Amino acid sequence: MIKTGTVLISGGSQGIGESLARRFALAGYRVGITGRNKTKMNALMESLPGQGHFYIEGDMASDPFYDTLEKTLEEKCPDGIDILINNAGINHIGKIEEIKAQSLREVLEINVVAVARFTQTALPFLKKGQQKKIINVSSIVGVMGVPGRSAYSASKYALEGFSSAWANELHRDGILVQVIRPAGVSTRFHHNTQTDGSTPKSSVSVKTPEQIAEEIFRLSRSRRYSVAPGFKNAFYQWLARYVPALLNSGLRARFKKAR
Ligand SMILES: NC(=O)c1ccc[n+]([C@@H]2O[C@H](COP(=O)([O-])OP(=O)(O)OC[C@H]3O[C@@H](n4cnc5c(N)ncnc54)[C@H](OP(=O)(O)O)[C@@H]3O)[C@@H](O)[C@H]2O)c1
Repeated sequence: MIKTGTVLISGGSQGIGESLARRFALAGYRVGITGRNKTKMNALMESLPGQGHFYIEGDMASDPFYDTLEKTLEEKCPDGIDILINNAGINHIGKIEEIKAQSLREVLEINVVAVARFTQTALPFLKKGQQKKIINVSSIVGVMGVPGRSAYSASKYALEGFSSAWANELHRDGILVQVIRPAGVSTRFHHNTQTDGSTPKSSVSVKTPEQIAEEIFRLSRSRRYSVAPGFKNAFYQWLARYVPALLNSGLRARFKKAR
């Protein structure tokens, strides 16, 4: 039998989150999304197939958002949620001598603290659900330290730490934690990236948000722990695990050339 249920996605107003909402709704899931952009979320809700979809508006860096989230889940999901996808994320880049304190705070607030708060708030509902899955949208930079992107890299390393610890912690509750590590996806993410100092933005997109949504959907149907979509990406992940010195010398050479 094909499994459906309720999926809750952080950052569903655009990019990968929007494609995830479309993919899961197409498969028959009821979709809940979060974001700050009400206009985009309203438009998405109207275009999704199926019924009962909902959004929760608010800034994930603010305390009141989590009260609203809890109240909405109590009202909309009395029988629980099945899959929780921690997708919302931001990027500020800059070398360590250039990146501003405010940029560091924002990246760590949204990519780390907000992920934990979102998960904490949704957890009682996830425990009541049937499928019991948490999928964390990390990045290939969560397993390799990319020069000029240390704040973002650090935030995704932290997410990897959460993922691994939660997988062990929540196992006794029957909750499976999974991780995806994309690289270079064609969304507004790069346009929205703030640069402190002289580090150039990366403009290489190798996957579309629809392709990443499909990978995440497939991951949700499996019990594997992690996936790094794309051949090159999977190769980087392999290098990071087994031959980190080779990977690091490549990263250093490329950064030296970019200066
Ligand atoms: N694009 C890539 O190349 C790439 C590669 C690897 C990993 N990733 C990861 O994939 C995830 C999604 O990225 P994307 O490319 O889809 O980015 P995106 O197009 O910029 O979308 C980001 C989403 O996060 C939400 N968000 C950001 N800040 C928020 C805040 N303060 N409060 C509430 N919601 C907030 C945005 O909603 P609002 O604007 O409506 O608030 C939006 O829905 C991120 O975790 C990112 O690190 C992306």
